[in-house]
Amino acid sequence: MKILVTGGTGYIGAHTVVELQQNGYDVVIIDNLSNSYPEVIQSIQKITGILPAFEKIEMCDKAQLNDFFKRNQDIDGVIHFAAFKAVGESTLFPLKYFHNNLFSLVNLLSSMQDNKIKSLVFSSSCTVYGQPDKLPVDENSPVQTASSPYGETKQISEKIISSQIAVSDLNAILLRYFNPIGAHESALIGEFPIGIPSNLVPFITQTAIGKRECLNVFGNDYDTPDGTCIRDYIYVVDLAKAHVKALNRLLGQQQENKCEIFNLGTGRGNSVMEAIKSFELVSGKKLNYKIAPRRDGDVAKIWADCTLANKKLGWIAEKNLDEMMLSAWNWEKHLAENFKK
Ligand code: WQD
Repeated sequence: MKILVTGGTGYIGAHTVVELQQNGYDVVIIDNLSNSYPEVIQSIQKITGILPAFEKIEMCDKAQLNDFFKRNQDIDGVIHFAAFKAVGESTLFPLKYFHNNLFSLVNLLSSMQDNKIKSLVFSSSCTVYGQPDKLPVDENSPVQTASSPYGETKQISEKIISSQIAVSDLNAILLRYFNPIGAHESALIGEFPIGIPSNLVPFITQTAIGKRECLNVFGNDYDTPDGTCIRDYIYVVDLAKAHVKALNRLLGQQQENKCEIFNLGTGRGNSVMEAIKSFELVSGKKLNYKIAPRRDGDVAKIWADCTLANKKLGWIAEKNLDEMMLSAWNWEKHLAENFKK
């Protein structure tokens, strides 16, 4: 079976390509390389022994996307990652987020319909829940006002997909990620943001390796035990494995309805300070950080009820916070060694 992975040179995308290949899928990646490097393709090959097909495609350009599909007629399913995803940045550049995340999705769905491709796994996000009233948050929790334009693009994307399902043969599984962190055990792929990282864990590891001066902890006056925000950090490889499970369910026609939604988290919440302490424990490094003002767009606390994914996908997140932090630190050290050469 041939699978198109959009955004496949990105962080979650690359880890998912590895798991797809290791599960016997033939993969083709399209990516506009706006937040990733093409060298990831060779790193994937080093891990799996298989070089995924790759084309640099701007999905907001309908003509480019149509041309790609004309040349790739034998695609059985699509996993759609390609999107901008930084909560903070989206509050500064909402139009950039709405344009990129929504136009690329609409173009993709239209091309899938033209090419009779019926199976879509969509990268959604826990940000669709806004600040939940009840925790842990399950899939029936109300989708509330998102706390950022990024979260709004994911809410609108889910609506676009369900509207398209209602009028076509499309079947979809929407995966609502919590906070993906860590890196593949080979340390050959990992989170590699271009420029200053917006996410916590790469900022921690870059501070520890000396690339950044100091980590700013965005607020310690939230209504949480230690005052810092709580998130459900999930190992990126566990997340990637869930995508293979979702794809198998779709292609194996095991769905109970044409649009299924699953939370992908660990079910455990950890604060920013707990994440810092975990990093210091596994790395043996004292992290240089200071308390800074809150960041726009942040919710105080969110963690998943992921029993539906456990039951229906037969999937469970395996790694704990310390193991995830160690994998992120090993990846950062690998980057430092490579760049030295
Ligand atoms: C986590 C916590 C920050 C940086 C991410 C993805 C998003 C979505 C949800 C998938 C927050 C704090 C951060 C820093 C800090 N995932 N922080 N200093 O915002 O929860 O969103 O998960 O769709 O795509 O971006 O993750 O890592 O940015 O922040 O104190 O330098 O760490 O305030 O409390 P976030 P994050």
